Amino acid sequence: MANTPQGTTSGTSTPSFRDVVRDVMKHYKHEKESEAHQIFRNAGGHQPKGLPEIVNAEEETVPGIEHPGSTGVIYCSDRAMANGFSYTSSHEWANLGQGAPEVGPIPDAPERPNTIPLPLDSLEYAPTTGVKALREAVAKLYNHTYRQGKASQYTYENVCIVPGGRAGLSRVAAVIGDVYTSYQVPDYTAYDQVLSAFKRLVPVPTALEHKDKYHLDVEQTRKDIRTQGLAVVLASNPRNPTGQVIKGNDLKEVVSLTKEGTTVILDEFYSWYIYPENSSDYGKSISSAAYVEDVNEDSVVIIDGLTKNWRLPGWRVCWVIGPKNLVTALSQSGSFLDGGANHPLQLAAIPLLDPLHVQKEKIALQKHFKAKRDHVLARLKALHLDVDIPPTSTFYIWLNLEKLPAPLNNGLTFFEELLKEQTIVIPGIFFDINPAHRRNLFNSPCHHFVRLSFGPPLKDLDMGLDAIDRVLKKAKNSGMKDFGQGYKTTIEVTEPAHV
Ligand SMILES: Cc1ncc(COP(=O)(O)O)c(C=O)c1O
Repeated sequence: MANTPQGTTSGTSTPSFRDVVRDVMKHYKHEKESEAHQIFRNAGGHQPKGLPEIVNAEEETVPGIEHPGSTGVIYCSDRAMANGFSYTSSHEWANLGQGAPEVGPIPDAPERPNTIPLPLDSLEYAPTTGVKALREAVAKLYNHTYRQGKASQYTYENVCIVPGGRAGLSRVAAVIGDVYTSYQVPDYTAYDQVLSAFKRLVPVPTALEHKDKYHLDVEQTRKDIRTQGLAVVLASNPRNPTGQVIKGNDLKEVVSLTKEGTTVILDEFYSWYIYPENSSDYGKSISSAAYVEDVNEDSVVIIDGLTKNWRLPGWRVCWVIGPKNLVTALSQSGSFLDGGANHPLQLAAIPLLDPLHVQKEKIALQKHFKAKRDHVLARLKALHLDVDIPPTSTFYIWLNLEKLPAPLNNGLTFFEELLKEQTIVIPGIFFDINPAHRRNLFNSPCHHFVRLSFGPPLKDLDMGLDAIDRVLKKAKNSGMKDFGQGYKTTIEVTEPAHV
């Protein structure tokens, strides 16, 4: 893309102040020179730190209280609000940062309840492991989908109902002992914070490589288990934000890591968001449950729920599946962490797990989201923003901006420029290890990326793509002089938003 020299003083005269500023913008390599990065640093919990465990006194708000640093989604929603985003104005905005699927009707999907019964019993606490009939329904669904003909079958005792995926992750993290716990980056942003919040376990991050399409190297992990003593491995599969999935024999290999005496935790929230090449493959989903031999002996822990696959993020009904022994431990951590999932909604969820209902939902979802993925990829291509590693699963696109002219080629500045156009995306650095602790965010391998979500309805996606088009046209027609500056900093949080 041409970087049109605008306002250049002619001949040999000294360059104007604007020229100097523009030159710095073009060449800057350090976050100190970037307005977008300075705004990030000034948000609570995002100051650079030497080591994660050192308390930064200046960040203490109330004695003893320290900002943990918000997850990317919350930072982005705060920045969007500073630019005028609110729930009442949300229809004027394109939220491609959204980590949730559209929740309204989609073609051919079965109807879902729009009222919830409240029987008297449901006003009581539910057990911290969840309502037995729902646990049974989950076990039945997994046996039906992934374990037909296998001797070892899941029962309700292998299922713990939890109030959302993050609650499930926290319950699991709370019962991990003093051991090395491996996770990879980029991956779901909450892992870093959840794992750091539970001080007994030692989080061990591994960077996945762009050149390997962000694939987990199972053989290397096996070696690390043996040489470093990794006791727990956590990964999302399909993976947020890269949209890649481990399946078939590769997934079987991941499950086989349990034979090394390691617990494998697979976050399978996007297990239905698989986009088949052949139409006969619609309706197939992916789970490590298919490769578990003995449900009580193999230390495979699966986390999933209604949030993404059923497109019901607001219900907060999710589950953890694993050996019976794990489930009793999770019941204990749930008793002090969250107290259990909402009782009436657990009851209402039972019919939604019926295998016939599920099959219809899955097919409708895969067709609809595949069409949205293809539409977004085609529009990005037309904007010369080719996606080098297109998603085969999830509803995220991990978009490399490296080919754009500076400063649009870094995720934070691209994000700020899109906010001016009422569009939200998530800068890539939020998917890196401890971004706030880096000395220079420009050195992060995720710095040149943004995550675009095709979770929202098609018309919102088009609004966002139109905004990207406008930004690129502005760069082409007027050069880079207006980019990288003029960002609103006042954050008037009047209502909570979840982007
Ligand atoms: C991989 C992954 N796991 C878990 C969750 C969180 O689920 P919940 O909203 O139910 O806490 C998300 C949400 O974005 C996710 O991407």
